[in-house]
Amino acid sequence: MNFRTIAAAIVAAMLVPLVGLAQTPSVPAPAAAPAAAVPKVYIPGLEQFMNVILTEHNKLWFAAQAGNWPLADYELGEIKEVMGDVQDHVPVFKNLPLAQMLDAVITKEIVDLEKAIAAKDFKKFAAGYDALNKACNACHVGTENGFIVIKRPTTPAFTNQDYAPRKK
Ligand code: HEC
Repeated sequence: MNFRTIAAAIVAAMLVPLVGLAQTPSVPAPAAAPAAAVPKVYIPGLEQFMNVILTEHNKLWFAAQAGNWPLADYELGEIKEVMGDVQDHVPVFKNLPLAQMLDAVITKEIVDLEKAIAAKDFKKFAAGYDALNKACNACHVGTENGFIVIKRPTTPAFTNQDYAPRKK
């Protein structure tokens, strides 16, 4: 169940007693039912989604550089997943249609990168990675965050994950 479904269910549950009141005005209002245990829902801020993307973006580079294509494929898949979460949870950011912007800015670059990964072609991958970074930065400029600049990494963000393909 996603956040919207939960929220809709909560709102619907809150409206039920009101509907009852409206239909039977002569009957005294029933005693308020004890508040249902509503699970607390935590939605990360956009910058938290972005920092997860940044981590996976770093790993993606070193996975491809090491020729670990299943890992590269996995990291790109995770980036897509987090972007999907952004579209679900932060569709609008400071009045900007972020969900649509994500589709417009980044879909093509991700598809190209997927092709490079499938072809296990590092040269193509590197070009696609640079194109992706341009797309990241285009959206940062477009959302008045032009001071956030994404580039190729020079060192793995983590040294406790081995990027080399597993030796058989
Ligand atoms: C659709 C627009 C959009 C795209 C595409 C986008 N970003 Fe962002 N990004 C934003 C916005 C808006 C912010 C500012 C968030 C805030 O102010 O809370 C941001 C912030 C960030 C930050 C700063 C987080 C921090 O706390 O330092 C990083 C890092 C980041 N993005 C990485 C990326 C990477 C990497 C990509 C591409 C793979 C990317 N972004 C693509 C809109 C986008």
